[in-house]
Amino acid sequence: MTTTEDFQVSLGAAERYEDRFVPAIFAEWAPLLADIAHVGPGQAVLDVACGTGIVARTVADRVGDTGRVTGVDLNVGMLAVARRIRPDLDWRQGDAAALPFEDGTFDTVLCQMAMMFFPDRAGALREMARVARPGGIVALAVPAALEAQPAYGPFVEMAARVAGPDVVSLLSTYWACGDVDELRRLLATSGLEVVDLRTHAGTARFGSPDELAVTEVEGSPLVERITDEVYAALRAGARQVLAPFTGPDGTLQAPLHGHLVAARVPS
Ligand SMILES: C[S@@+](CC[C@H](N)C(=O)[O-])C[C@H]1O[C@@H](n2cnc3c(N)ncnc32)[C@H](O)[C@@H]1O
Repeated sequence: MTTTEDFQVSLGAAERYEDRFVPAIFAEWAPLLADIAHVGPGQAVLDVACGTGIVARTVADRVGDTGRVTGVDLNVGMLAVARRIRPDLDWRQGDAAALPFEDGTFDTVLCQMAMMFFPDRAGALREMARVARPGGIVALAVPAALEAQPAYGPFVEMAARVAGPDVVSLLSTYWACGDVDELRRLLATSGLEVVDLRTHAGTARFGSPDELAVTEVEGSPLVERITDEVYAALRAGARQVLAPFTGPDGTLQAPLHGHLVAARVPS
């Protein structure tokens, strides 16, 4: 596969992310994250692991002409979509583990629904604190723990029954930052002082329970490990355990609980 084809594949996935998952899951959290961080006119804001840029776009409207917004992500496909939608904002390729900015460049650093994917979370937080100015804010949105998820919890339990207990670890990355005490400890050990922490009951919207099952399976290593029969059983199980969240028209509104936290960089 050539580099161009690689890029096209990831661009297609990024377009699907923007069309399907941003409205279904992520858009709801962006204004809440901007609120808890008190993003306002004139600020310089960084969106870490910006994806297709929903947080950056949301805060751009708040900082206005006197402010400045930068989005950084590892994935060039995500950045290409972000740039297509808002060519006026600053989009950079970079790793949360080594942010490509000078110390103290931003008033506020935001990171939505990505911290759980970073191999060194304390290191990434130290980087966010480094590129924020002294007294500035670092704010995160992360999904709550699986045990606190009224729809995803029963889904993963069902998947473990159908596909074997190993499934739990394969489907667990998403919930890895969900323990509030651990989150507070992580921020403290990274030299940040928590100033606000809220838990929000959000909603993940899908066309059907099948769609949630397909998203979970195909977005995880599970897809390579299960037979067609097990996959079909998982979809049937999803219809059953997600019935309480499925409307008469078949669409699914699955509760998705998450934490929003704002922390101050020492002055
Ligand atoms: C679930 S998406 C969230 C994107 C965006 N914040 C949103 O709310 O729509 C996770 C993003 O994290 C990015 N990502 C994962 N690891 C990263 C890293 N080490 N540095 C920068 N971005 C990373 C991925 O490329 C992806 O765009």
